[in-house]
Amino acid sequence: LTSAQGFVTVVDGWRSIGHGKILMKKIIIFGTQNFAQIAHYYFTQDSERSVAAFTVDAAFFREPTFCGLPVVTFEEVERHFSPADYDMFVAVGHQKLNTQRSVKVAEAEAKGYRLASFVSSRAIVPPDLEVRPNTMIMEGAVLFPFVEVGRDTIIWGRSSIGPSVKFGEHCWIVTPLLGESVIVGDHSFIGLGATIAPGKKIGKSNVIGAGALIMKDTKDFEIYRGHASVPSRAPSYRLGRI
Ligand SMILES: CC(C)(COP(=O)(O)OP(=O)(O)OC[C@H]1O[C@@H](n2cnc3c(N)ncnc32)[C@H](O)[C@@H]1OP(=O)(O)O)[C@@H](O)C(=O)NCCC(=O)NCCS
Repeated sequence: LTSAQGFVTVVDGWRSIGHGKILMKKIIIFGTQNFAQIAHYYFTQDSERSVAAFTVDAAFFREPTFCGLPVVTFEEVERHFSPADYDMFVAVGHQKLNTQRSVKVAEAEAKGYRLASFVSSRAIVPPDLEVRPNTMIMEGAVLFPFVEVGRDTIIWGRSSIGPSVKFGEHCWIVTPLLGESVIVGDHSFIGLGATIAPGKKIGKSNVIGAGALIMKDTKDFEIYRGHASVPSRAPSYRLGRI
């Protein structure tokens, strides 16, 4: 079986890469919100892995099941699902510039979990792409050769990522158009339909809003908004053409 993650063979749950073999363990997903549901769907429907359970901080524990699977507290997760037998994926959104997710990534690793990653079989990625821990690349994303994706960076479907683009760690990328050799700083958010001109550098912890057009380098911690369309004064029923 050849997957989008490169020329990788999977036999009986073992993945062979070069001369080495890695056991594809079952996954525990951190989180029970929308992104956790999406992660569960993708790992279940489009990967060699299966999901065993969910985990949340005790303070956020509401229901004992999610997506038909058990939910256990993060404080006690290793008692139920040992890091020796299970990997983890941290499915936390972009809140607080992705720091909530990065904190949980560090805590999961400190507990001894290896962090899983996912590349959709319907994404177009270079065969030698290095897929780092807790990274997700969704369907229809197109990554050209020599793209580098930092750990815990989430790239949503239909993103178009030009050659030699470099993403830092803990980024959240929602369907933008990135020219060749763009550099994206750690913790940055790039929204729907944003365009970044070739060679530009996005600082750390930026929010590049939906539809924004970036033609110059940005500084750390900047926010860019796209220009929202304004309604015409004429009502739509006056327009004969549509
Ligand atoms: C960029 C984006 C986030 C801006 O949203 P917004 O609602 O216009 O922004 P806000 O009004 O909340 O905040 C921006 C302004 O308020 C200020 N502000 C907000 N909270 C503040 C605070 N706590 N203290 C001080 N200033 C604050 C900001 O400095 C900024 O000021 P400005 O008027 O000088 O620009 C939004 O346009 C966007 O594109 N969102 C992403 C949509 C998307 O692609 N989603 C993908 C699916 S996840």
